Amino acid sequence: MAGPISIPNLRQHDVLRLSHLTRDDVLALFKTARAMKADPSKFSEALKGRSIAMLFEKPSLRTRVSFEVGIHRLGAQAVYLDHSETRLGERETVADYGHNLERWVDAIVARVYKQTVLEEMAAASKVPVVNALSDLFHPCQALADFMTLQEKRTELKGLRLAYVGDGNNVCHSLMELGAILGAHVTALTPAGRDPTASVLEECRAIGAKTGSQLKVTHDLADIAGHDAVYTDVWVSMGQGSETDRIRKLFKPFQVNAALMKKAAAGTKQTPLFMHCLPAHRGSEVTDEVIDSPASIVFDQAENRMHAQMALLLHMLRD
Ligand code: CP
Ligand code: NVA
Repeated sequence: MAGPISIPNLRQHDVLRLSHLTRDDVLALFKTARAMKADPSKFSEALKGRSIAMLFEKPSLRTRVSFEVGIHRLGAQAVYLDHSETRLGERETVADYGHNLERWVDAIVARVYKQTVLEEMAAASKVPVVNALSDLFHPCQALADFMTLQEKRTELKGLRLAYVGDGNNVCHSLMELGAILGAHVTALTPAGRDPTASVLEECRAIGAKTGSQLKVTHDLADIAGHDAVYTDVWVSMGQGSETDRIRKLFKPFQVNAALMKKAAAGTKQTPLFMHCLPAHRGSEVTDEVIDSPASIVFDQAENRMHAQMALLLHMLRD
């Protein structure tokens, strides 16, 4: 196997967020992911003999299965570590945990409550750490999402993506990758649920170099003229439950047929509907939208595996 071109910014590099990658890095990664999707058998021994730890402090369907199956398809071994009962740092320090793992495995994939825990583990461990979702970012999700958009719309530069709902981890990673790729991202959030100001500022600094425009607004009229509409749960894992107060605050931001129609104003093609899943049907999205022909949510889910396989390959191959 000749193998894909090298991406130095990924080689043995932590992926706690995406800000260290360039547009060319990401496009090269997507190229590898497309090759893997087209013919996975060509990569079946690409990481033969390697082991990857997968530790989860929170529940998961897509991330766990897509990583575990993807690692197997690369010829490597996944070791699942359930941290839903004992949080990282409780039984021993996060640094000691990292020092142990680095003696056995080639990489650590971690879903944690706090980005700072990932940073601590990455600082302590010699093997690279991948963020499988934290309070601040969900980089693997954004990679799969833009890979899916590229499949559906080809050109990512100038693409207009509307994110509707909570200014959360998924919103942050979409803004970050949108900025890297030169896409325009509009975050439509209820008052008080804006993306984190420091993250927005960092994304805007990236976007200033690529021509990406990032807008945060509370005005739903700004939904007009987008190529895709994306939403996520109103309350993220570890942040409580969907109370009546939350439902009242977010209800105008529900992605329903009327909102999708407004998004289509001035566009040539029907806007796509996207969601990282799991979806709370009847809350942030209605059945008629998520089950419509415009919905690409299961393509996004599938591409989690291809994008992550490409990521691990570029990080770990010799
Ligand atoms: N989208 C996503 O990360 O799904 P899981 O929480 O099921 O992994
Ligand atoms: N924002 C959601 C994403 C789930 C994949 C959460 O953090 O729970």
